[in-house]
Amino acid sequence: MADNKLNFQDVQFEGSVGLVRQLKHSDLPEIVFSGKSNVGKSSLINKLLNRKSIAKVSSTPGKTQTINFFRLKKARLVDLPGYGYSKVSDAKKELWGELMETYFSSGRDIRLVVQLLDMRHPPTKDDIGMLKYLDDSRYDFIVVLTKSDKLNKTQTEKRLNEIEHELDFIKKDIIAVPFSSSNGQGVDEVRRLISKAALEGKKPQTDQSVQDL
Ligand code: GTP
Ligand code: MG
Repeated sequence: MADNKLNFQDVQFEGSVGLVRQLKHSDLPEIVFSGKSNVGKSSLINKLLNRKSIAKVSSTPGKTQTINFFRLKKARLVDLPGYGYSKVSDAKKELWGELMETYFSSGRDIRLVVQLLDMRHPPTKDDIGMLKYLDDSRYDFIVVLTKSDKLNKTQTEKRLNEIEHELDFIKKDIIAVPFSSSNGQGVDEVRRLISKAALEGKKPQTDQSVQDL
């Protein structure tokens, strides 16, 4: 495998963290997957890794309620619990906030945040909150537009135009990649962007708090 590509075949599930105190310090470059519940984070990770279910997928929103770590040789993929699922209790929402706060502010080597948006719909209030946080943060991020297979050609063109406007509040230059874990659209491009960030990206310099989310 070429040196400028991560090896996505060589992966180990490292474990789940549901409580702040379980988070261990880490120096390995990390690629983080963020998005609302049910948007397809775990499916995307499986697709990148060419595995059926190393990350647990469910049609019931709120499946991933812990941070899950997948270790490659030179980087780690981090599956965050989804946000915005209304049936989750207030206590769980609070736990989510604490976990995110600690994860993003504990000096980890976060190289890229992959922010997932459902391609079919405008970003939710929570999506916009997360995008604003990322835009103001020291982190590089890309947008992945999931479930692209659910749109036909006309709908795809329409949504791409709309999304350009829906995201024009973002100040940073961003890349948005249509993606389908069903038919594999976008998988090579996302692998390429992740590899670049993990292998060539610079470690962010200062800490920043997520508590304004
Ligand atoms: P949480 O763990 O609840 O935060 O959800 P998640 O973002 O990890 O979503 P998950 O990958 O579990 O997928 C949710 C549902 O969407 C499942 O039924 C998946 O099969 C479906 N799904 C995910 N990605 C795609 C896609 O690209 N195309 C289609 N058609 N369905 C998808
Ligand atoms: Mg999940």
